[in-house]
Amino acid sequence: MVAGERRISIVVASENEGTQAAEIAVHWQEEEYYHAPPSFVEQANLKDPQIFERYSIEHFPDYYKEFGEMLDWYKPWDTLLDSSNPPFWRWFVGGELNASFNCVDRHLDACKNKAALYFVPEPEKEPIIALTYQELSVQVNELAAYFRDGLNLKRGDRVTIHMPMVLELAVTMLACARLGVIHSVVFGGFSAQACADRMVDSDSSVLVTMDGYWRDGKWLDHKEKADETVRAAGKAGHAVRAVLIFERYPGEYRSSFGLVENRDIIVNDILSQYTGERVEPEHMAADDTLFLMYTSGSTGKPKAAQHSTGGYLSYVTAMSKWILDIKPTDVYWCMADIGWITGHSFIVYGPLALGASSIIYEGVPSCPDAGRPWRVAKRLGVNIFHTSPTAIRSLRKLGPEEPAKYDYDFKLMVTVGEPIEPDVWRWYYNTVGKGNVAIVDTWWQTENGGFLCSTVPALAPMKPGSTGPGVPGIHPVIYDEDGNVVPPKSGKGGNICIRNPWPGLMMGIWGDPDRYIATYYQRYCKDPESKDWQDWPYFAGDGAMQAPDGYYRILGRIDDVINVAGHRLGTKEIESAVLEVKGVAEAAVIAAADAIKGVIPEIYVTLQPGVAPSDQLQRSVVDIIVRDIGPIARPRKVWLVPDLPKTRSGKIMRRVLASISNQKDPGDITSLANPEIVEAIRRTVSE
Ligand code: PRX
Repeated sequence: MVAGERRISIVVASENEGTQAAEIAVHWQEEEYYHAPPSFVEQANLKDPQIFERYSIEHFPDYYKEFGEMLDWYKPWDTLLDSSNPPFWRWFVGGELNASFNCVDRHLDACKNKAALYFVPEPEKEPIIALTYQELSVQVNELAAYFRDGLNLKRGDRVTIHMPMVLELAVTMLACARLGVIHSVVFGGFSAQACADRMVDSDSSVLVTMDGYWRDGKWLDHKEKADETVRAAGKAGHAVRAVLIFERYPGEYRSSFGLVENRDIIVNDILSQYTGERVEPEHMAADDTLFLMYTSGSTGKPKAAQHSTGGYLSYVTAMSKWILDIKPTDVYWCMADIGWITGHSFIVYGPLALGASSIIYEGVPSCPDAGRPWRVAKRLGVNIFHTSPTAIRSLRKLGPEEPAKYDYDFKLMVTVGEPIEPDVWRWYYNTVGKGNVAIVDTWWQTENGGFLCSTVPALAPMKPGSTGPGVPGIHPVIYDEDGNVVPPKSGKGGNICIRNPWPGLMMGIWGDPDRYIATYYQRYCKDPESKDWQDWPYFAGDGAMQAPDGYYRILGRIDDVINVAGHRLGTKEIESAVLEVKGVAEAAVIAAADAIKGVIPEIYVTLQPGVAPSDQLQRSVVDIIVRDIGPIARPRKVWLVPDLPKTRSGKIMRRVLASISNQKDPGDITSLANPEIVEAIRRTVSE
């Protein structure tokens, strides 16, 4: 079906001085449907055509019992949903379980000798390691024993994990979960400063790291970051009592940074004292915190989404089963990093809860060449493949013919993290999927635990560039700026919200309940006193439109968040780093379109009086961003300009700057306090 071109009226963020990222997918046309092959449909986990009727809003919240029943519980729950204190929802109240038991122990009887995890090292000559469920159990137990007896860690404590993509990362998470210790994994590519900020915020005094790892053909000495993290945390008055270091090559310490006495411990050595130890999993309440995951928001400080044990685990298990169609016999590869929510939910917790084999790949997909992912897929017999539009764009650019050279066989492929251009989608389908595969375009966020919108692969056709309807149980709605519901299926843009709570939704923001309400609920809650969940739609912060067929198209962030290669960065976070550079007066970050990464930051900077523009200053701006945040935030350009466009009340109009960087019409600028600056900046940029 070609619905033809339609005018999409976009009202999101019209008055916002922000980045106007919510314009990405506005201009795409409606596309034809593609159908999953009958061979897929036949074997699918979810093919009950009544599912949406069973999961209609009238049956909320009862349908979520089925999610809870996918797990093993020590004690059944008494109350499925306690919604008496909106918007702090409590799921499976009274129930007790353990995430490590559900991801490890419960599979031992049936399949202890199958691979739970594969480690694929970046250097291709190094052997792939298969960790069986039995061996995973041994390693998780021994590490948990050390945590408990050697470090005195106990339920409720926080541990920060700053590691590359290695087996030990998943083992550490599961060892924490076994004891009820809350893990906070910081993306390995983040800077020491970012890691320290997160340790301070979560009041965590133990850091788990690795000596080094391979990335893009280079050995990165990671221990250096641990030393810097401890220093930076110390400056903020926070003591780190132990740094646990795994060796990438056990028995060989390969960092050039020495060990600090009474603080640094080589985990591989100490574990020999715990050989064969077993740790009884803690019986955790369903709403005990399983982990913290930091993400960027509109204000400068990253916030920690606090995810529950029972609600989160049941949600990711159900989504892995129904949307990713994972079965215990599948070999599943998600190329995300475990340092992001996708990796938590869909490399570690979801696939392991289902007893599947999940792959952890150390490095960049195109190392040593763009054929690497397809060689891994063939060798390990991967049949479910999960990645981001940025990775797909990059693999298409570097090796458009590579997939054809390898005869792997995918049944399902996933895209996540950013809008995917229909053209890129088609390459994914035809070339990577060889035209014989189901694809799901999953829309969701760190805060959500698991998917919000997607097609159910055996039940609904795919449409390039659109995510799909709400997944079973999720009931989206689009509001306009004034809080009116945008007519469903009207093709009109607005702000997407979710009408109902769901078990995977975070319980709150760590230590900041007010920010949780202000960020996700204030905007569209008409009665803050209401005790009725129906008055509390969840505000996602994305622009979206719904086509007549009920599929949503996500248009991008409407707040001051930019999504670089599927990674969320707060513009304020970057700007506050830039303001540390001596001589800088003001800074504004905008999202500039990029053929591979979707968008990439560009920075506009004004200097203090008497400070002369220089290349050195531009370099300092780049360096400080990489130092404070990490290389993912590295700007493409730093523009030193005489002034920034401002409203009469003094707000910087980033939208105008974004239009200059993206060679678009800035629209009406007459209401600016300094409209003449726009032309001056445009000249600087086009020189
Ligand atoms: O703007 C949406 C975009 O990524 C944001 C969430 O980022 P993060 O919390 O880092 O989680 C990423 C992985 C779930 C959303 O607000 N986004 C995510 N998935 C999609 C998407 N945009 C379009 N299509 C998607 N499938």
